[in-house]
Parts: sequence; structure tokens; C-alpha cells
Amino acid sequence: MDYFQYQDGVLRCEETDLREIAEKFGTPLYVYSRRTLLDHFNRFRDAFSKLNPTVCFSIKSCSNLAILKLLRDAGSSFDVVSGGELQRALEIGADPASIAFAGVGKTDAEIAHALNIPRTANNAASVGWFNVESEAELDNIATIAEQKGKRATIALRINPDVDPKTHEYTTTGKRETKFGIDIERAPRIFSEFSKRKSLDLAGIHLHIGSPVNTIEPYVQSVSRALKLIDTLRASGHAIRAINIGGGFGAHYDGGEAPPASAYAQQLAPLLTGKNLQVHLEPGRSIAANAGILLTKALYTKSSGQKNYIIADAAITELLRPALYGAFHFAWPIAPTSGLIPPDRRKDLKLSGTTLVDIVGPVCESGDFLAKDRWLPPVTRGDLIAIFSAGAYGMSMSSHYNSRCKPAEVLIDGATPTLIRRRETYEDLVAAERIPLQE
Ligand code: LLP
Repeated sequence: MDYFQYQDGVLRCEETDLREIAEKFGTPLYVYSRRTLLDHFNRFRDAFSKLNPTVCFSIKSCSNLAILKLLRDAGSSFDVVSGGELQRALEIGADPASIAFAGVGKTDAEIAHALNIPRTANNAASVGWFNVESEAELDNIATIAEQKGKRATIALRINPDVDPKTHEYTTTGKRETKFGIDIERAPRIFSEFSKRKSLDLAGIHLHIGSPVNTIEPYVQSVSRALKLIDTLRASGHAIRAINIGGGFGAHYDGGEAPPASAYAQQLAPLLTGKNLQVHLEPGRSIAANAGILLTKALYTKSSGQKNYIIADAAITELLRPALYGAFHFAWPIAPTSGLIPPDRRKDLKLSGTTLVDIVGPVCESGDFLAKDRWLPPVTRGDLIAIFSAGAYGMSMSSHYNSRCKPAEVLIDGATPTLIRRRETYEDLVAAERIPLQE
């Protein structure tokens, strides 16, 4: 369920007419629904409430400060994967002890930065958790922490060798990926590194892929991790936390994602009574359906057998279709034909529609937002919503072709708030310098 719905032939976000939003803020534009974000977050936390989990919203999925602040106020902690994301979490006043710092290649500077943040409650160390991906990284964190007289709390990310049955590029739980440490090697690593006084080896981290629309891969990987934890505890390691990562699904093509309650129903029994703090790192399941990309048809044209809508948004705003062949439902926000989609599905083909591609202005044949879609008539100036774009949309945007990044608006009922202004040409060149000629 989300709060982007057609009413009287026009798409609304909550109580707001999106035509007015486009008029006021221009396009391309990201529009987020506050109510949907909170609803998804609360449903997620409530589903797992028996475990009293720490829900760390994954900043990479949707990193606008206003949205992070909204989620923080709702009780979210954060998963960060870079110094930049850490900075964002700190900017909005996240408790450092609630932050999990993940990422396969943390630099020395990032590790030092994360170690230098005083915890509010306990000044002994830095961010709450380092999710560590290799022995070399563990050794490096130990050394930097030693130099600083700090102690880093570590969750070792293990690779459970489970197939999450998702896109190759977002599969992380199989052995032949760059992520995590082979599960068989974990006991040796724990016994070797538990000697390092600057490390508190206290958790196991998993993240098998994204989106994972079946629950079985989680059950398998959590079961494997729990077995490992038993082995580690039997050897005297005080494991107190398990982080089962993110990857929970969202709706792109109809209702393909299990609800949070379905994941929880199968996972909570496995994790109950284990004397483990449970951490979760959802991103997409909270943000994807809470945002749309609003774009304007600049031109229409036919070329060969194909009909094109040339929109003012491109791969620079939404890379997912080009990068993963990802499907995002698209529809005019106020179709002149009056045709309203009964649901958002790939195979939707209503009478009165024609087959079109929605493409952007960027100079690449791979620059498309939607391919082979049956859409009602669209003419120059019409506004089109690209749905399910709240996660990995703006956060993966780029300046390619020297395009300014779009604005972002957060809707609360009938009130829109600009949460990121549209970039200007000055912004585009602000970091660049032309060397002085002799
Ligand atoms: N935790 C870790 C360690 C992760 O690597 C990720 C995502 C998450 C949590 C959050 O996963 P989520 O709940 O959002 O699925 N750009 C791709 C997705 C890449 C996901 C990367 N890691 C896309 O647009 O589909």
C-alpha cells in the first residue's frame, strides 16, 4: 500500500494533486510521501517487534537528510557504507551507537573518522558497529583502533553461500561474490582476532542480496549463521548480535513483495530465545514505493517501428532500468483519455493504449526509463509518473551530460516541502578549477 493513487482522473500523493507540484517545483522531480515512508517503517518494525530489533535504515537506498530525519524521529537507526553516509547520519542527529558501518572497502580515513565519533552514552568507542568484510579489513581496523586507544565493535559479515534469486548485480550471498567472508573460515578468524584488544568481536552480519522476494533464502542463511554462532559460543566467543541485513522486497510489478509480516513470521521463530540482539537493514522495502519520479514529455516521435516519448528525466535521474533492466511502472498523471491503470503491472494492456518507449535526453541508446509499454495517448507537455522510484533513484543519480540533479519534494497530506532544491549550472561547476595560464 502506498499513498500515490488516482482520484478523479488525476494522480495524487496523499491529498496533493501532482499537477500542482510539477507546476510549482518543475520537472524532473522526485516526490516522496511522508505517510508512506512512516507506514512502511512502522509496519516493518512492528512485524519484527517480538525480537525488539534495531532497524537500521539503509541510507544508500534514499539518502535525503529530511527523509533520514523523519525516519530517525520514528525510531530508526542507520546502516552506512561510506564516510559520506556516516556524515549524513550524524547531520540528522542519529545516535552514533545506533549506526552500523558496512562496506567492502572502508578507507583508513573513513575508519579513523568512524572511530573518532564520541558515543553519546559511552565514550569508549565510535560508531555502534563495524560490519567487516575481510581479514585484511579486520586487521586494519584493529591497528587503527589500537593507535587511537579505541575499541571497535565488530560484526563479521559472513557469506552464507545462499542464492537469493535476484539480479546478478545485486546478488551478494553467493560464494562467488566479493562480499563477506566464507562461513567456514569464520571460526578461525574469530580465534585469531579475539586476541586483538582493540576489537570487540561481538556479532555476525549477513546481507544476501536485494530485492529478495522469497523468504527461503533468508531462512537458510539465518539458520547457517545461527549454527556458526553456536560453534563460536562453544569456543568461548561472546556473540551478542546478529544482523540479518536488508533486501526485503518492494512492489514494482504488481504485488511481488511479501509483506514485512511474512518475512517476520518465518524468521522471528528462528531468532527468538537466542539471547541475540537482532539488527535489520531495510532500505528498498521502506523507500521504493514511497517515491515517484515525475517527468514531462518533451517530444514524441516515431522511428522505424517504434514510438518514443522523449521525457525530461533520464538515466541520470533513474539508472535502474538501464543498469538492471529494472521495471518501473509508468503512467501519465492526468491522462486526457481518462484511462486510469487498475494496477501497476508489466503486462497491463488496456484498450486505447499504444506501444511506446519512454526515453531520456541523454546521449546513450541505453538511456530509457520504460520499454515496450502500452500507454494512453501522451502529447508534448504531459506529465508522467515513474513509480516505485523512492529507493535507489535519487541516490544513484548522476551529473552525466552535465545535467543538474533534480529537486526532491516531501508531501505531508496537502503540504509539499522542498527537501532538495534543483541544482543550478553554478552547482555543476562549483568544485572545478581552471589552472591559471602562465
Ligand atoms: N545492507 C547491506 C549490507 C546492503 O548492501 C544493502 C543494499 C542493504 C542493507 C539494503 O538493501 P535493501 O533493503 O535496500 O534491499 N542499486 C540496487 C540495489 C543495491 C543494493 C545494495 N545493497 C537497485 O537499485 O536495485
